[in-house]
Amino acid sequence: MIELKNVTKIYDPGGKEVRAIQNLSLQIQSGQFVSIMGPSGSGKSTLLHLIGALDRLTSGEIFIQNQELHKLNDNELSLFRRRHVGFIFQSFNLLPTLTALENVTLPLLLDGKSLSSIIPKAEALLEKVRLNTRKNHRPDELSGGEMQRVAICRALVHDPTLILADEPTGNLDSKTGGEILQLLQTLQKDQRCTVVMVTHDERAARYGDRIIQLRDGQLEV
Ligand SMILES: Nc1ncnc2c1ncn2[C@@H]1O[C@H](COP(=O)(O)OP(=O)(O)OP(=O)(O)O)[C@@H](O)[C@H]1O
Ligand SMILES: [Mg+2]
Repeated sequence: MIELKNVTKIYDPGGKEVRAIQNLSLQIQSGQFVSIMGPSGSGKSTLLHLIGALDRLTSGEIFIQNQELHKLNDNELSLFRRRHVGFIFQSFNLLPTLTALENVTLPLLLDGKSLSSIIPKAEALLEKVRLNTRKNHRPDELSGGEMQRVAICRALVHDPTLILADEPTGNLDSKTGGEILQLLQTLQKDQRCTVVMVTHDERAARYGDRIIQLRDGQLEV
């Protein structure tokens, strides 16, 4: 379970000071697929970054499983990310010089796992998303939907308990986007992970078990 208690994020405190998240409290059950919607600038990406330990909160508390994120130092936060979180971005963020397979293996390589143990796992995931014939292609040899499927494999390869997706279908046409969302939903059920997804698209949001609306850094009720 994920629990946020009175979380506030202020960028540049004392300077230009933007209150991106204001005193927000929220619980997300394990295994839930939660969609976050809200206008541009309402704090969606910030919230996702706080939950994924990509950024530090200004005040408040975040509990994820048995960890208290607000108490971890930078090294512990980065370990938490590497072990528990998979990120999926709108622009895929694949490394252009690596093949699909190499991109998928990267998180495990960075975690010090041996190549021989990683490759079968990465190959199995690529097969699951029907990309086994594309594993030696580089990103510029793949379609948008294919690149996002590779990115999903990369996000899942270390068996994260939490998948965070920031507009994962934002650069895809609606049919391909629908396929990606269905895939995400299937993988979430298979791997029993929690998914938190930011989206502007009402139809995409409905793939979630629950939709949260943000406005000015607060939950809209
Ligand atoms: N690094 C930063 N430094 C200062 N202000 C920031 C920073 N990142 C975001 N902000 C501000 O925080 C607020 C929330 O930004 P955030 O990126 O979370 O919005 P969002 O809901 O994801 O918007 P969008 O839908 O456009 O992606 C915005 O007003 C933004 O200008
Ligand atoms: Mg955003």
